[in-house]
Amino acid sequence: MPLKKPVILSVVGARPQFIKLAPLAPVLSRQFNHIVIHTGQHYDFEMSQVFFRELHLPKPKYNLNVGSGSHALMTANIMVRLEKLLGQLRPDIVLVYGDTNSTLAGALTTAKLQIPVGHIEAGLRSFRLDMPEEINRRLTDQVSSLLFCPTSTALKNLKKEGITAEVVHSGDLMYELIAERLRDLKRSRLVLNRYQLAAGQFLLVTVHRASNSDRKENLETTVEILAALNERVIFPVHPRTAANLKRFGLWRKLAAIVNLIVTEPLPYLDNLTLLMHARAVLTDSGGMQKEAAFIGTPCITLRQETEWPETLMQGNFLGGLSQRKIISRLNHLPQITTGGSYRIKGRKPSAIISLALKRFLGAR
Ligand code: UD1
Repeated sequence: MPLKKPVILSVVGARPQFIKLAPLAPVLSRQFNHIVIHTGQHYDFEMSQVFFRELHLPKPKYNLNVGSGSHALMTANIMVRLEKLLGQLRPDIVLVYGDTNSTLAGALTTAKLQIPVGHIEAGLRSFRLDMPEEINRRLTDQVSSLLFCPTSTALKNLKKEGITAEVVHSGDLMYELIAERLRDLKRSRLVLNRYQLAAGQFLLVTVHRASNSDRKENLETTVEILAALNERVIFPVHPRTAANLKRFGLWRKLAAIVNLIVTEPLPYLDNLTLLMHARAVLTDSGGMQKEAAFIGTPCITLRQETEWPETLMQGNFLGGLSQRKIISRLNHLPQITTGGSYRIKGRKPSAIISLALKRFLGAR
């Protein structure tokens, strides 16, 4: 009788998690019984389905449909719904990704059922407990049995915290995905044409962190910064930021900025294409800081700190919301060489993760 394949569940719910799942899912489904669960944290077409379609992700077998809500409501609803499912599916391990409420809810529910948790993108720290993501990361790392670190800084962070579970230096799945698409991106001009943008002659802006988008004064400062940029700018607006811009009465001010193109959130490849051809990117997203470093586009991070300190050596600059610093940096952008390898000892992150899972499950 053939041996039954181990059951691995991936719990995802937000945009960056779909991206991390993309290079890993095909590798896992060759070797394991891999089941994808969508928590429903992100539900708009532009925030969710478009990624599944474009990145050829396996259709989630279950959707917990939690939708939006306060942190407690979202986390609790995921936990209650996931607990039932885990009881039925009895997986050998549950993988959670990154640092969102879906990550923490998935990790807590799983660990309490005494099922092992694997954390992809473990060990990242901003050292700021006023960020919901930092709370999610730290707690998830605490209850994980297998921790996959993208960088050596992440490995050191876990060591300092005395986390002794199995820690693997896996490299970065997001880099793996970009590396596979790089050639197509260089050629692609469709999205530039759609928005009438000339390569190297525009800025790409994204803002969604709670610290920037939930506080009226910070969002107002962001709009003032955008108004002061004396060049063409494209700003795909995250739904949270759009809702707050309207709530705080700032939407009209934003729409009135000459030279600014405001769009819905963009699909993955369109966003990367813009990132590749932009003169610089201004963002508070962790993922885009990395993508910019990998592609070789100068990045100005609209925060005071970063979980990705390696990117500071590759042209990432912490501008916070200081108009003076941002404009001055834009006037003196550094030359950046692309790259940094995403492979560790010549192996892809997806291969390292899959092998570590095989060993871990085999040893149990
Ligand atoms: C979440 C993650 C953040 C990640 C980001 C990527 C947490 C705490 N934060 O932030 O770490 O970088 O995803 O995008 O988990 N909304 C919609 N449609 C959607 C999704 C959200 O309209 O499809 C709106 C809702 O009004 C919601 C708000 O956006 O209340 C915020 O969504 P939420 O998922 O709580 O956090 P994000 O800001 O997306």
